[in-house]
Amino acid sequence: MTNFATLDDLDVKGRRVLVRSDMNVPVQDGVISDATRIERGMQTIAELSAAGAKVIVLSHFRRPLGQRVPEMTLLPVAKGLSNALDGKPVAFAEDCVGEVAENAVAAMKDGEILMLENVRFHKGEEANDPEFAKSLAALGDMYVNDAFSCAHRAHASTEALANLLPSAAGRNMEAELSALDSALGNPERPVAAVVGGAKISSKLELLMSLVDKVDTLVIGGAMANTFLQARGFSVGTSLCEPDLVSMARTIDLRASATACDLVLPFEVVIAESLTEGVATRTISAGKVPEDMMILDVGPAAASEAVRRLTLCKTVVWNGPMGAFEVPPFDMGTNAMAQAVGTLCRQGNLLAVAGGGDTVAALTNAGVAKEFTYLSTAGGAFLEWLEGKVLPGVAALGETIAKAPA
Ligand code: 3PG
Ligand code: MG
Repeated sequence: MTNFATLDDLDVKGRRVLVRSDMNVPVQDGVISDATRIERGMQTIAELSAAGAKVIVLSHFRRPLGQRVPEMTLLPVAKGLSNALDGKPVAFAEDCVGEVAENAVAAMKDGEILMLENVRFHKGEEANDPEFAKSLAALGDMYVNDAFSCAHRAHASTEALANLLPSAAGRNMEAELSALDSALGNPERPVAAVVGGAKISSKLELLMSLVDKVDTLVIGGAMANTFLQARGFSVGTSLCEPDLVSMARTIDLRASATACDLVLPFEVVIAESLTEGVATRTISAGKVPEDMMILDVGPAAASEAVRRLTLCKTVVWNGPMGAFEVPPFDMGTNAMAQAVGTLCRQGNLLAVAGGGDTVAALTNAGVAKEFTYLSTAGGAFLEWLEGKVLPGVAALGETIAKAPA
């Protein structure tokens, strides 16, 4: 875990430090609706500023595909960063390379903070173009990568830069990697994974990788339907991936072979459609009528899953257990997440969650703060769990780039 430099290893006073943050936050009509990524990123920025660095913040924002798209400016985010830093000024440059950026950097005094415009306004960013990376590198003396949630992208500001300047991981990068390491790299056993969401297809590699690593694998969400079908249960009109039934069977068999306890909902909540206020029934998983769909795990199945999780020391959580966006189909997710949150609070469990809809589902359950760690990463979290090398981390230090096999 400590095979890369951190802020502790840099002497930054008076130096220009390029900090790659992930400030890709949700913004609606110019208003930031969730500032979590800014809050996680500001620690590194504040620490560098306090140490007398000239702090130059790089980030992408959405997917402008190499063009200047006015709605995808980072300007509102620079304001959000300044607010998060109790009003400390954050200057803004309307380009991340070239004269505009160079002049803005040249005007900086020690301790000042400057945010540069969206790096994805230039094609060279996503192309990991060496020339573009050199233009970025020309603006700084050192590089700090604090964007774990972008580490699965080999882009100029997340990968190439690390090879051009003395580099270190920022505090958020350190925190993310350390949480993942304790969840799956070096976990206290028994370790469980809870995986939900709509489709197996998007999580095949994840499930294949997890059955080899965890002692218990709880599967929920619509992806559980494909597993139920693979075990011969009828799933009515439920969301299901019939072409992946044989793959689900393979994962099921693999779990038996590796003594991974694969837990499927034996009881489910069904309705005629996914609509608020629709009549619901709770029924055993084998008895779903042809014209009904599974929309959540049943309370007894949720309790049984919790009982198994209680036997574990570590849980890694990804995805919702039901159609949580439409109540009451959030009840299974809420019951399980609240139980896990309580176990964490009591010090009996270490739980790390992340990826896609997970933060929204846990926030809806009211337990976002109770889990040991909530990753701000979507794709990067999943790819790390799958055991893939993350280029952004690899560029900082080979050996901690992926979860041990
Ligand atoms: C994310 O929100 O997933 C990260 O900011 C990376 O963005 P991307 O998926 O557009 O690369
Ligand atoms: Mg993404």
